[in-house]
Amino acid sequence: MAKSKESKLPKLGLLYMDYVLRFFDKSNFKGWPDKIEIVTYHWKNDKARFIREVKRKKIDVLVGNIPATAYETFREIARELPNVRFMPSMDTQFSNKSKENVTRFAWKYDLPIPKTYIYYKKDNATKFLKKCDYPKIIKKSYGPSNYGGYFVHKVDSPKEAISLFKEKKYYPQYFQDFVPMEADIRVMLIGHKPVCAFWRRAPEGEWLTNTSQGGSMDYMDVPKNVLDLAVKTSKAAKAEYWACDIAYGKDGKVRILECATAFAAFPYIRDWIGQYIMWNLSDGRFNMPHMPMFNWEELGKINPDLLRTMRNITFGKYNPSYDGAYFGNKKRVYGDAKKYIHELDEEYQVLNIQARDSEEWPSEKWNYQDNYKTTKLRDIPTTDIISDDESVDSPQAKTIELDKQEMIKILKSVKGIGNKKAKEILNQFSMVELVDIFETKSKKIRDEITWFNKDLSKKLNSEWKNFKSKI
Ligand SMILES: Nc1ncnc2c1ncn2[C@@H]1O[C@H](COP(=O)(O)OP(=O)(O)O)[C@@H](O)[C@H]1O
Ligand SMILES: [Mg+2]
Repeated sequence: MAKSKESKLPKLGLLYMDYVLRFFDKSNFKGWPDKIEIVTYHWKNDKARFIREVKRKKIDVLVGNIPATAYETFREIARELPNVRFMPSMDTQFSNKSKENVTRFAWKYDLPIPKTYIYYKKDNATKFLKKCDYPKIIKKSYGPSNYGGYFVHKVDSPKEAISLFKEKKYYPQYFQDFVPMEADIRVMLIGHKPVCAFWRRAPEGEWLTNTSQGGSMDYMDVPKNVLDLAVKTSKAAKAEYWACDIAYGKDGKVRILECATAFAAFPYIRDWIGQYIMWNLSDGRFNMPHMPMFNWEELGKINPDLLRTMRNITFGKYNPSYDGAYFGNKKRVYGDAKKYIHELDEEYQVLNIQARDSEEWPSEKWNYQDNYKTTKLRDIPTTDIISDDESVDSPQAKTIELDKQEMIKILKSVKGIGNKKAKEILNQFSMVELVDIFETKSKKIRDEITWFNKDLSKKLNSEWKNFKSKI
């Protein structure tokens, strides 16, 4: 229970970014007695001002997710704020940047992933693609994942692979062995304890397990080896909170597909994370909510629209003298044994993650993208946190400030661009690229789409200005 009230709490700040969905707000930190500051990053040359604001507000702990395109800038910012604890740390957020980073993280910690190839030299990739086995899965490593599988392609021959890279110009060239899978499973963790998990299955005869493509999801009987791998991954990342997409192979093996601190989650989960952070920062002065194992199987029965409105959910703890306790009396087959859920709560404890005191993934070494590349694509606005498939189980897609629908609306507000043409543009460019094109008045769309002329370009730029003035 609560310790002395005397110990001073650190000054908390929430990190916001223009255009990016807010994962937390103050209401997730219910009961925090002090003022919570907010600092907003405005992109483009905002680094120095941002640092000044954090210093001026005397923030000790800055909580929030860094999207891919701001990751490298925030590594620099974090260095200039050595006394500020970023939560999650920039090292924990290494995986947020790109699929390449997820892979390098998994390689380092010997975590199972589909066999992955990353090429920065085109000739070497081509040479390899000519002689390797197929099918392969080609992915865009860096950029938004807001289409859930949109930048993921299956290729069956050297010819297909080489022409796909030629068309899409993905760089680095990132691809994997194709893994036949039953389903993929999303696991969310807080302090390394699984707090929510669900299956996503592909539609009949398809291989993409994204629910946006017509697949299904359910919360029941997530296997032990999946939860164990998620915990191992969260521990390797030293993550205060974490989500993992794990492929459940037809061969029964589990492999990591994606992992990050940025993910879509119901408000009650964000409340749990807020309460966890309060517990973590207060030396136990605040209580942690009890989040029993497999609570998701029960909460998953609630209509998602209702679940979306539920806040600060907490459960009673197991108490041996009280035999009405639901989670206390329930036994289940788990792994090889049949166990009480409260026994599993002992096995999967919420752990207290400590601040780091050195850099694990310094960019001088690990920023392959910029270290290899001459043109830098970074520090541009992005909306890459939410993917379509997650809108199914997440309220966030509804409140996002710039989503795909919004972008279509902007495109279509230009006379001469209808549904079909808007879709064509969106097929060719990611949201991140489009925002960058508007912001820099780049000619990229004209270069790649023949019907897109100077006049349309001018009109579109003014529609973008118009849209921005309204937000
Ligand atoms: N190596 C692979 N083998 C088979 N299917 C894959 C493989 N990698 C990804 N997939 C399928 O493609 C989907 C999207 O891939 P993912 O890496 O999660 O990218 P994103 O969600 O960013 O588009 C996965 O959910 C899975 O269904
Ligand atoms: Mg995915």
